[in-house]
Amino acid sequence: MYYQNLLLVILTFILYDNTVNIYAYRTFDVDGVETILALENETINIECKTDGPLSYCGFVHPTGKRYSFKSQELHLGRCFNKVNVTKQDIGEWTCHLGKSAIGVETTRKIIVRIVNRVAAIKQNVTTNPGRTVNLECAVIEGMRSLEYCRFESPNGIAFNIDSVMNYSNRILDKYFYPRNRSLDRGDCVVTISNVKYEDAGSWICGAELDDGKEYIDVITLKIEQPMSDLVTGVITFAVILCLIGIFAWRKRIFSKSPSLEQIEMEDMEAQQRLRATQSSPQPFPQPERNDPVVFQLPSEPSSSPVTATQQRSVRKYIYL
Ligand SMILES: *[C@@H]1O[C@H](CO)[C@@H](O)[C@H](O)[C@H]1NC(C)=O
Ligand SMILES: *[C@@H]1O[C@H](CO)[C@@H](O)[C@H](O)[C@H]1NC(C)=O
Ligand SMILES: *[C@@H]1O[C@H](CO)[C@@H](O)[C@H](O)[C@H]1NC(C)=O
Ligand SMILES: *[C@@H]1O[C@H](CO)[C@@H](O)[C@H](O)[C@H]1NC(C)=O
Ligand SMILES: *[C@@H]1O[C@H](CO)[C@@H](O)[C@H](O)[C@H]1NC(C)=O
Repeated sequence: MYYQNLLLVILTFILYDNTVNIYAYRTFDVDGVETILALENETINIECKTDGPLSYCGFVHPTGKRYSFKSQELHLGRCFNKVNVTKQDIGEWTCHLGKSAIGVETTRKIIVRIVNRVAAIKQNVTTNPGRTVNLECAVIEGMRSLEYCRFESPNGIAFNIDSVMNYSNRILDKYFYPRNRSLDRGDCVVTISNVKYEDAGSWICGAELDDGKEYIDVITLKIEQPMSDLVTGVITFAVILCLIGIFAWRKRIFSKSPSLEQIEMEDMEAQQRLRATQSSPQPFPQPERNDPVVFQLPSEPSSSPVTATQQRSVRKYIYL
C-alpha cells in the first residue's frame, strides 16, 4: 500500500513535470509560416531541419543580428538556437542552412510571438462573405485541458462552446466547434459558417485554466469583398457603359434620318410636280392592276392615273 502510494506520487510528479517543463511554448503553422507562441522569459528552441548533413547554419535575429552555430547535430541536418525569449526577440527569425554538398543555402522563416497563457493562433483573420472561417485560440503551456471556452462577438453576442456544438447543433444556426479539435487538448475554437459583413470586428476568446482564472485574447476578423466579385463588378460596369454608348449612338443616327414631316413634305412636292406634268400631252402609264396598294389621290376632281414615283413615295409614307 505504502509503495503504491509512493509510486502514484512519483508518477504524478513525472507527469506534472512533463506537462510543465517539456510542453511549454507551442508551435503552429500560420499561413504556411512556422510560428512559435511563447510566454515571456520562457526558454524556446528555434529549430530548422533538413534532410542530409549540414556544414554550417546560422540565424538572423529580428533586429538583424546574426548568430552562427557549429553545433554537434549539424551532421543530422538539425540547426537550433535556444533562447530565453524577451520582448526584443519578438518577430521574424530566419535560419540559413548550408549543405555540405553544394553551395546553395536553404533559408526558412520562423515567427516568434510572446503571448498570454491563452492566445490567438492567428490574430488577424481575413475572409470573404459567405465563407466558413475558424477563430482559434490555444493554451500556451502545452496541451492542457480547458475548463471552458467562450467567445464574444463584435456585435455583442457571447456564447460558450464545446464539441457538443457540432455542425448539426450550431449555436444560432451559425457557430460550431470544429470536429478535429478538443477542449482537452487546449483548443478554444469557433467555426463561423456563412460569414457576413456584420461578423467583422474584434472577437474575444476566453478560456478558463485549472487555476480557476479566465485568460483572454483578441482576434480581429476582417471581411473583404472577394476578388471575383470585384472583377464581375468592373465587367458589369463596362458592359453598362457600352450599352449606354450604343444607345446614345443609335439615337443620334435616328435623329439624323428623315422624320415623318420631311417625308410628307417630299410627298407634297411630288404631287406638285405631278400636277405640273399633267398639263403635258404625254400619256402616263396605267398603274398595274396587281399592285397591292392603289391610291386614289385625294381631293383631285381631275384625277389622273398615278405615276410610279408618286406611288412609291406614298407607299413609303404608309409603311412608316
Ligand atoms: C522576465 O524577466 C525580466 C528580467 O529578468 C523581468 O523583468 C520580467 O518581469 C520577467 N517577465 C515575466 C513575465 O516573468
Ligand atoms: C536562460 O535562462 C536560464 C535560467 O532560467 C539560464 O540557465 C540559461 O543560461 C539562459 N539561456 C540563455 C540562452 O540565455
Ligand atoms: C493585425 O492587424 C493590426 C492592425 O490591423 C496590425 O497592427 C498587426 O500587426 C496585425 N498583426 C499581425 C500578426 O499581422
Ligand atoms: C453532433 O453531435 C450529436 C451528438 O451530440 C451527434 O448525434 C451528431 O451525429 C453530430 N453531428 C455531426 C454532424 O457530427
Ligand atoms: C482540422 O481540419 C482542418 C481541415 O478540415 C485542417 O485544416 C486542420 O489542420 C485540422 N486541425 C487539426 C488540429 O488536425
